[in-house]
Amino acid sequence: MSRPVPAVFGSVFHAEMPVIAFQNGAWQPVEWQSSQDLTLAPGAHALHYGSECFEGLKAFRQADGKIVMFRPTANIARMQQSADILHLPKPEAEAFLDALIELVKRAADEIPDAPAALYLRPTLIGTDPIIGKAGAPSDTALLYILASPVGDYFKVGSPVKILVETENIRCAPHMGRVKCGGNYASAMPWVLKAKAEYGASQVLFCPNGDVQETGASNFILINGNELITKPLTDEFLHGVTRDSVLTVAKDLGYKVTERNFTVSELKAAIENGAEAVLTGTAAVISPVTSFIFEGQEVEVKSQERGNALRKAITDIQFGLAEDKYGWLV
Ligand code: COI
Repeated sequence: MSRPVPAVFGSVFHAEMPVIAFQNGAWQPVEWQSSQDLTLAPGAHALHYGSECFEGLKAFRQADGKIVMFRPTANIARMQQSADILHLPKPEAEAFLDALIELVKRAADEIPDAPAALYLRPTLIGTDPIIGKAGAPSDTALLYILASPVGDYFKVGSPVKILVETENIRCAPHMGRVKCGGNYASAMPWVLKAKAEYGASQVLFCPNGDVQETGASNFILINGNELITKPLTDEFLHGVTRDSVLTVAKDLGYKVTERNFTVSELKAAIENGAEAVLTGTAAVISPVTSFIFEGQEVEVKSQERGNALRKAITDIQFGLAEDKYGWLV
């Protein structure tokens, strides 16, 4: 059976999506609707006051034909946290997981072979049609889940050039850990500028020299046998892939250090042969090939450790290595 991988990431969706409404103070039973459109009041809270958050996770077709999701409960927990911070109704974990499983079953024939996957995009929006509710929560909401066959977000083998940005921030610091559209809108001017002016793939946000994350992924420095990454604060997204890489790396004998580090330290390490990776559901584990520090491009000399970590994680996802952490559903 041919299972095409669309050329543009996230541009083709499974025909149906599960929709779960929050009304009258309670979550309602799931309904299945066309994923081509959604009826929403023009005054809906999410459209005016940004009461919106989303998740990204993947389902994989393994070599023996089995289909698995990677750590869905971690994404559900993260959306519950995002909902809390945005004062949106908190999705019920069990109904959420059931909807994900049913969606993956219905879309099973569209899941491409390795290394492609089915990207799942749960989305939670506030739907109160009251534009007077600025600074007040929406009492109604919709949770829906899109499913999209995807290939690479950063093409494997092509350069991953990262502009190091020390002046501008990705988003409001207290919102960094919320996976909401507003944060991506906030980062967009700097990401577009980096692409247009430097041909960069992404921006690494380092306000006041503090190395944080890129516009679409977490960031890990691999210096010899040590992985260094920022400790979990409210300022940036707590990635499921970040956590998975740190866990696997420890078992592979790496030292894992979660601490703040500066652009000066990053630059010195890269010049001395260190590696760096971007991590995320979409990014997977993408080794950086060069950085631009204050207009000067510095090559990353090796991608070897980053590629080995990518293989360690994707081997679990595709059933080529034991799932000893119980991550697959
Ligand atoms: C993900 O990695 O799932 C994301 O949401 C990043 C997005 C830029 C595709």
